[in-house]
Amino acid sequence: MLVYLNGHFVSREQALISVFDHGFLYGDGIYETMRAYGGAIFLLEKHLTRLKRSARAIALRLPASLDSIGDSLNESLRVNKLQDAYVRLHISRGPGEIGLDPSLCSAPTIVIVAKPFHDYPSAYYDRGVSVEIVRTRRNHPLALPPAIKGTNFLNNILAKIEAIKAGAFEGIMLNWEGYVAEGTISNIFMVRKGALHTPSLSSGILEGVTRDLVLHLAKKMKIPVRESRIAPKDLRAADECFITNTTMEIMPVTRINKKHVGAGRPGPITMELREAYKKEVLACLKKRAS
Ligand code: PDD
Repeated sequence: MLVYLNGHFVSREQALISVFDHGFLYGDGIYETMRAYGGAIFLLEKHLTRLKRSARAIALRLPASLDSIGDSLNESLRVNKLQDAYVRLHISRGPGEIGLDPSLCSAPTIVIVAKPFHDYPSAYYDRGVSVEIVRTRRNHPLALPPAIKGTNFLNNILAKIEAIKAGAFEGIMLNWEGYVAEGTISNIFMVRKGALHTPSLSSGILEGVTRDLVLHLAKKMKIPVRESRIAPKDLRAADECFITNTTMEIMPVTRINKKHVGAGRPGPITMELREAYKKEVLACLKKRAS
């Protein structure tokens, strides 16, 4: 595996950063996780746009233009001879003296890790996974905005620890008001009476690239869509539920806090959206090939 580190491709063993990097010291950095299908990064522009937003939100000057970062991402696939891949771009504040002031760091650290994509077991998609609504609340947007895709992940890790203890695949966090926010690494959707519901951005969540595509596809399929505040009791009473992110795409959820969702099987709208998502991936691949 060749890792991109500050402009060079180096071996995994040589991919080392300073212990004075503020990413390491303070979790001061941003990242994007992307997925490549057939040698192309899916929705690359959307990820780069969000990266730019995250950078601006933490007053980080990107070390290169978005175009050149995009080129380095594609180059990472090429040098590693990857088709279907997991690609992680990580930009931290960089090495500097100890202290919180970002101006102590003169140059950000940029890292790209690209590796073969290993899909989740097919049983997860066939039978659905379990989620647990955890006690840990999602960060208040006025404290650490969940809209920033930052590397400071302790909020999500505390929730993940609870989810693991409960034997659940994903932990679902509520927001500061007790409404449903999102998973530790995913956005959440539910279906009730034929309509698709998901927490609004003002619920304090990351604007997932997959979430956006799912909303777009649902509208195209004439499924009624509502982005709003969702109470946990409404989530528990859903007919269908699923979570989304770049790597898992649309993952059916069939248990919430150990109770069945609807009939306890992945629901019809979830499956239709999964099909539509797959078609979208194929259409992107075709467009690129032509
Ligand atoms: N996580 N919410 C949170 C807190 C996330 O960390 C993620 C993604 C999402 C979904 O975003 P997207 O659809 O753009 O992947 C929502 C990635 C996969 C990660 O942590 O690696």
